[in-house]
Amino acid sequence: MEQAMRDFFLFLSKNKGLTKMAKKYGLRFGASRFVAGETVDLAVAKIKDLNQKGLAVTIDYLGEFVDNEREANEMADNSIIAIEAIGKHSLNSQLSLKMTSMGMDISEEVVMRNMRRILDAAKRNNVFITIDMEDYLHCQTTIDIFKKLREEYDNVGTVIQAYLYRTEKDIDDLDSLHPNLRLVKGAYKESAEVAFPEKQDVDDNYKKIIKMHLLNGNYTAIASHDETIIEYTKHLVKEYNIPNDQFEFQMLYGIRTERQLGLVKEGYKMRVYVPYGTDWYGYFMRRLAERPANVTFVLKGMLKK
Ligand code: FDA
Repeated sequence: MEQAMRDFFLFLSKNKGLTKMAKKYGLRFGASRFVAGETVDLAVAKIKDLNQKGLAVTIDYLGEFVDNEREANEMADNSIIAIEAIGKHSLNSQLSLKMTSMGMDISEEVVMRNMRRILDAAKRNNVFITIDMEDYLHCQTTIDIFKKLREEYDNVGTVIQAYLYRTEKDIDDLDSLHPNLRLVKGAYKESAEVAFPEKQDVDDNYKKIIKMHLLNGNYTAIASHDETIIEYTKHLVKEYNIPNDQFEFQMLYGIRTERQLGLVKEGYKMRVYVPYGTDWYGYFMRRLAERPANVTFVLKGMLKK
């Protein structure tokens, strides 16, 4: 039953008609629990609030799977506006983005031009950029583009997903670049040909790559709400004397908020992923897929409107 719900929400997350409708009608159905707001000003206010509580942030101007150049350029413009807002307000925030929204499906030339514009603005404002990892179809291209950009810029990192069979090899291949990587379990629906179907295997592989990347001496973001993974990391860093400035925990805005503050109190670096913008629908559906219990929030949200 849970798997059916998960598949249902992942299916909905890709529906273009619903995505358009959601943009038109604004944040609904309890989505504001996971999305900071629709404007950069609302996002800035939220970041200030989180920073005051000791939480670092990565901000994400929502949007994905853009298929025309004008929209891709607009997405990049909006990310630059966010970067400049971080600089102007001296926020403790990085920026995360999806390259399908920067023109990755249009051409390499478009995506590279937009990425360089973003990374130049980020450099000027001292902001670090993380390239989110999307579905398997985009994985190799994302890694190839990341490698090229990493040769030109030191303020860029990407994400590696533990559910993919290829992941251990990717961690090995990327090691020579000493990359700052965010490690996650993986949020998309993938076939058993490319990804572990069993949760236990994903969790085991996740632990394995956390250990590999940390012991390789690289900066590691452990982006998970899973207490077992958090505890595993705490023990690992203690056992191998890994300093607190070589890693950080990351969680999504609106999920396990108390635990986020708890980790700050314990002296760990904790970064919250704060999405904002009008294109909230796909992101929101993936959060529901992760935890069907969140559907209660949707129902409450629907009743309120
Ligand atoms: P898991 O799903 O096993 O959950 C463990 C426990 O955490 C649950 O039992 C529950 O208690 C709690 N929990 C998890 N999700 C919850 C929710 N939605 N609501 C309430 N409680 C919840 N993925 C990707 O493919 N590409 C990417 O670039 C990113 N980027 C990214 C950034 C950050 C900062 C985070 C935290 C996550 C991502 N992800 C991602 C998503 C990631 O791949 C994964 O889908 C989610 O983090 C859920 O997996 P967990 O590791 O949290 O564990």
